[in-house]
Amino acid sequence: MTTATVDAVGIRVQGVEKSFKDLHVLRGVDFNVKAGSIFALLGSNGAGKTTLVRILSTLLKADAGTATVNGFDVATAPGDVRRSISLTGQFAAVDEVLSGRENLVLVARLRHLKNPGAIADDLLARFSLTEAGNRRASTYSGGMRRRLDIAMSLIGSPPIIFLDEPTAGLDPQARIEVWQTVRQLAGQGTTVLLTTQYLDEAEQLADRIAILHKGTIIQSGTLAELKQLLPAAKVEYVEKQPSLEDVFLALVGDSAEPDSGEANSAQDDRTDSAIPVRKETR
Ligand SMILES: Nc1ncnc2c1ncn2[C@@H]1O[C@H](COP(=O)(O)OP(=O)(O)OP(=O)(O)O)[C@@H](O)[C@H]1O
Ligand SMILES: [Mg+2]
Repeated sequence: MTTATVDAVGIRVQGVEKSFKDLHVLRGVDFNVKAGSIFALLGSNGAGKTTLVRILSTLLKADAGTATVNGFDVATAPGDVRRSISLTGQFAAVDEVLSGRENLVLVARLRHLKNPGAIADDLLARFSLTEAGNRRASTYSGGMRRRLDIAMSLIGSPPIIFLDEPTAGLDPQARIEVWQTVRQLAGQGTTVLLTTQYLDEAEQLADRIAILHKGTIIQSGTLAELKQLLPAAKVEYVEKQPSLEDVFLALVGDSAEPDSGEANSAQDDRTDSAIPVRKETR
């Protein structure tokens, strides 16, 4: 995969705004993600995380601002952006009727890769799915399905990966497995932008963390930098470090209410299919 620029910025977001009718979801979002790093975007339900990921993956146009992904502008070079990324959406894009292996072979074929069977077998092994490989995905547990979903998004080795709530609904063991996968990816130089509501996930994985609230990034930095925002409380001889959760709640407020309060109905409003498009990003 070629990179358009030699600088080490994987994703650059400047002044991005997006409204849905009179709901001003993104009000000028700015951040950079260093190539090869893991960046976590934190925010409450309805904060606009998925909206931003959809803009960065060219599924949605911003109203204002610019964003480049792998050096390509999402507005003027969407084809190059799509060739540089893969998107694992908030809801798994696995075909339930097919087996895990068939799902992988299908994506490899769509990406015109040689030896789709060998690619599938390799990924099944990497994601501990070899035994289940020939079973229909409909029989998989949530964690297995998530792992298959992420495996599918790795086909073709895109330099930039978007993971929208990669471990939502997974049990602790499955979450740890997904985390290991994400760490491996970053270790190999892949840039990972993930959204999450699990603060421990950001603590565990991210090189840098940004908090999206009321349409802007209200704070960003390394975990250590964010923790310094709150003074360490001292109880006798034991120094208590604030957790990321303490920092998040102090910044966002305990109620952590989104602007509209309509986050749950958001999924129904969406007219286009965010998730199947993932397979077309070759
Ligand atoms: N296509 C759409 N039409 C109208 N409103 C939308 C649309 N997509 C998103 N919204 C609204 O924009 C806001 C942000 O939604 P978004 O899905 O980006 O939030 P999120 O941070 O991903 O939330 P969650 O954590 O629940 O996934 C919500 O209030 C939602 O209702
Ligand atoms: Mg979302």
